[in-house]
Amino acid sequence: MSSGTTDAPTVYLETFGCQMNELDSELVRGHLRSLGYRFVDDFTTADVVLYNTCSVREQAENKAYTRLGLVGLRKKAGQEVILGVLGCMAERDGADMLKRFPQVDLLCGPGELDRLPALIDNARRTGGAQRAERLALAGDKSRRSSTLAAAADNLELLDLSRAFDPTGPDAHRKSAYVRITRGCNKFCTYCVVPNTRGAEVHRPPGSIVDECRRLVDAGVVEITLLGQTVNHYRYTHGLAVDDAGREQPQVGPGLAGFRAAPAEGVNVTSFARLLERIHEEVPSLQRLRFVTSYPRDFGDDILEVMAACPRICRYIHAPAQSGSNRILKAMNRGYTREEYLAFVDRVFKKLPDCTIAGDIIVGFPTETDAEFEETVSLLRAVPFKNNYIFKYSPRPGTVAIDRFKDDVPNEVKKLRNNLLLNVQSEVSRAAHEQWVGKRVSVLVEELRDHGAREERAAEATERSLENARAKNSAILTHPESKKIQLLWDRRQGSPRTGVQAVGRTAGDLVTAINLTAEQAKLDLQGLIGTVVEVEITNCSPMLLQAQLK
Ligand code: 5AD
Ligand code: SF4
Repeated sequence: MSSGTTDAPTVYLETFGCQMNELDSELVRGHLRSLGYRFVDDFTTADVVLYNTCSVREQAENKAYTRLGLVGLRKKAGQEVILGVLGCMAERDGADMLKRFPQVDLLCGPGELDRLPALIDNARRTGGAQRAERLALAGDKSRRSSTLAAAADNLELLDLSRAFDPTGPDAHRKSAYVRITRGCNKFCTYCVVPNTRGAEVHRPPGSIVDECRRLVDAGVVEITLLGQTVNHYRYTHGLAVDDAGREQPQVGPGLAGFRAAPAEGVNVTSFARLLERIHEEVPSLQRLRFVTSYPRDFGDDILEVMAACPRICRYIHAPAQSGSNRILKAMNRGYTREEYLAFVDRVFKKLPDCTIAGDIIVGFPTETDAEFEETVSLLRAVPFKNNYIFKYSPRPGTVAIDRFKDDVPNEVKKLRNNLLLNVQSEVSRAAHEQWVGKRVSVLVEELRDHGAREERAAEATERSLENARAKNSAILTHPESKKIQLLWDRRQGSPRTGVQAVGRTAGDLVTAINLTAEQAKLDLQGLIGTVVEVEITNCSPMLLQAQLK
């Protein structure tokens, strides 16, 4: 069956959706590699094809369905291939997916990924005939536990077994994700996550610090802590320990429970304390970030730790979702517009140089034009560096799909989406402009030969113009003519800029560093993964331009 040069079975793994999925895929990759699997970039030849799916929005799902169809064609052509669906779509659709897509051999929910190798092994040996051996899904068991301890938590082992080999295939990676909380207890009415990823489970702080230390020892420069509502991290010591006295992950409090102060004498690690511990105990970590924050309960204690610890990035991704109190209530977000604005005020009082980003949903059921305008005015009131803007899509398994008719027409959603993108573009430009003239540090991620790209674009422009002239066509009426002319003008007006090093500031602003001819002769590959000091010279809504200092 193998198509590679060795006998190791080959795997193609593609990831859809969020950072949580990216981390899951990374852990799966490490786990399968340690068992002798080899990863390849081509799904048409791999022995095992895995899709790690996302059901937060319909678009990502449709992409995954298309992929399943393509692998189905391989099977129809008589090729032997194991097809596995991982992640949220597998968890939500369960056995229904096997009926709709008979080419799928195995399903593995996001809470069961430690069982994936056994599923693959079984499918390879038996052809996956046994239905029960094709599924690893949590069902509703993840919400059955009423105890604080989530002790039988094998998934923790997957996080803990992460590969830390500084010479391994991922050694070039300088940024890493570390999970601190899995699942979610917030139940926003539009969101599928509490169903697919289950109850909120917090990892013991000792394991998290340990994982950060080992990643840094392996060469990682930047760590991003992950949780659906990362600031709601809270670990109560002494409640969940195994027989050997080791702390275990534990189920988190719900939204209401979070506000209750810990009882006298109870030892709790809050999110603020966790950040502080990582900052203190992993001193050679250069950048510590976290996503996603919940705009509620983002305490001053967190802001104070951020202000006191220079290597914690002053960047907060805290989705507002809407600017209308009625819609926020229908979404079950648990805060008002005024509370969101008060939170932003607190952030800038304590951290004047912080950047804020968010997510917005337009066209939530019953949203009126006036309510949409409240979202527009929220965007204008907060200096968001960016907002991811989504059109509401009803998701099976959510409260909103049962409670509300999806009554905002798609045309209206599209219009609101485009309007908001334009507003955000202005807001982003203003947020970026504040940095012009300042000195900042940038973690370099890649090199771009801007000159070569411009050169190619300019040549293409010239060819188009020449062709048009040769054919004596009416170039000025051509729909592309404006674009061509623009490229042409740019070429005449601007000198070639040569090589750029591209990275991000601590505030997550993408920065293109224009290198001089002299600098371009230096060891540029060596720049990748290092933090450099630059001066910001210019900006656009999405990008800072800079020079090395
Ligand atoms: N429709 C549209 N957007 C959604 N999101 C989550 N669920 C939906 C949905 N049903 C968006 C939210 C969330 C981001 C990850 O995806 O803005 O913050
Ligand atoms: Fe979904 Fe709300 Fe939980 Fe975020 S906080 S994962 S939007 S339920």
